[in-house]
Amino acid sequence: VTHGLAGHTDYMSKEIAEQPETAARIIDRLAPMIADGSLWSGLNLPPFERVAVLGCGTSLNAGRVIANAFGALGDVPNSSLIASEASSAIMDPRTLVIALSQSGETADVLRAIDDLDLGTSSLMALTNSEHSTLARRADSMLNCNAGPEIGVAATKTFVAQVITGVAMALSALAATRRIDRDYARRQTDDLRRIPDLLAHAIAASQKAIPPLIEEIRDAQGFLFLGRGAGVVYAAEGALKLKELSYRWAEHYPAGELKHGPLALVEAGTPVVVIDSGDRRIESNISEVEARGGRIIRIGGAGSTIPALGLSLGTAMPGGIDRWGPLESVVPLQILARDLALALGRDVDKPRNLAKSVTVE
Ligand code: AGP
Repeated sequence: VTHGLAGHTDYMSKEIAEQPETAARIIDRLAPMIADGSLWSGLNLPPFERVAVLGCGTSLNAGRVIANAFGALGDVPNSSLIASEASSAIMDPRTLVIALSQSGETADVLRAIDDLDLGTSSLMALTNSEHSTLARRADSMLNCNAGPEIGVAATKTFVAQVITGVAMALSALAATRRIDRDYARRQTDDLRRIPDLLAHAIAASQKAIPPLIEEIRDAQGFLFLGRGAGVVYAAEGALKLKELSYRWAEHYPAGELKHGPLALVEAGTPVVVIDSGDRRIESNISEVEARGGRIIRIGGAGSTIPALGLSLGTAMPGGIDRWGPLESVVPLQILARDLALALGRDVDKPRNLAKSVTVE
């Protein structure tokens, strides 16, 4: 099968652009199965007391968002496991283990699920490849339905995994009466806003990011900061930037800045801040600015990239803001891609990396 570029210069560009439509398609299909619990009951998995997500790279980041959603929306204890380190993990009883893999063929993930002593726990696969090895070996499979992703850097599959996983989480919480149906319906309404948020984020980023690139082009290192739900988006932004531009990038929970990484900040150091609504981020921004660091703010008042969820003016209390802001991944993808292109990198095939990593 050949997949055309549909007028784009690279697959990454095409796949970033496809995100609003991909999100809308997934939400339209899953929304009717959330509040009545049928998305969860269709998976035929046993009751659970806690959740553990497992994966590598971007799939692990998507898993962390889903784990956060279980915790924030349903008070379910949750943890995340780096697949290559999971063999030493001791599983609590009645854990719902969610293994995430776009390809379903990642060796670290397959080894991890072979090594896990599941006991009374169960294994769900969340994958973009329904006929993959992971899908076959799991007790149950949920397809994230992103369609083919050609670029080595995961973009639309992250969004698809997060939406599918959060929809499943809500359905599981409703089915097990941890949340009531009305609450589940309101959350579903929040999910329905995501395609628009993503579309706004693409338009706003395509305007706001290109003028920044010349200024940060020669920076050798980048910091990505967030708090709470924002930390995992900082992680995803740093991963994308390293993978595509070959520049050093680190992510931290913003409160950790003053415990070490602040020493890295000098005049012009780019520091990308994901604002997910915790006001304490302001003092972290001031700490960076006082050293001459170059703040690139994603979300919130004064956002470098306007038109993100928190800057839209309509609050979403108790909903997407507790596990989001999903739309903030868009400027992070576009920042990494634009910088990489300015540095002459191949954004679809970064050096040293493969789309599916089948060695441990
Ligand atoms: C993401 O941009 C990376 N290419 C990489 O981290 C990837 O997410 C990881 O290798 C996991 O792949 P999988 O989802 O197919 O298991």
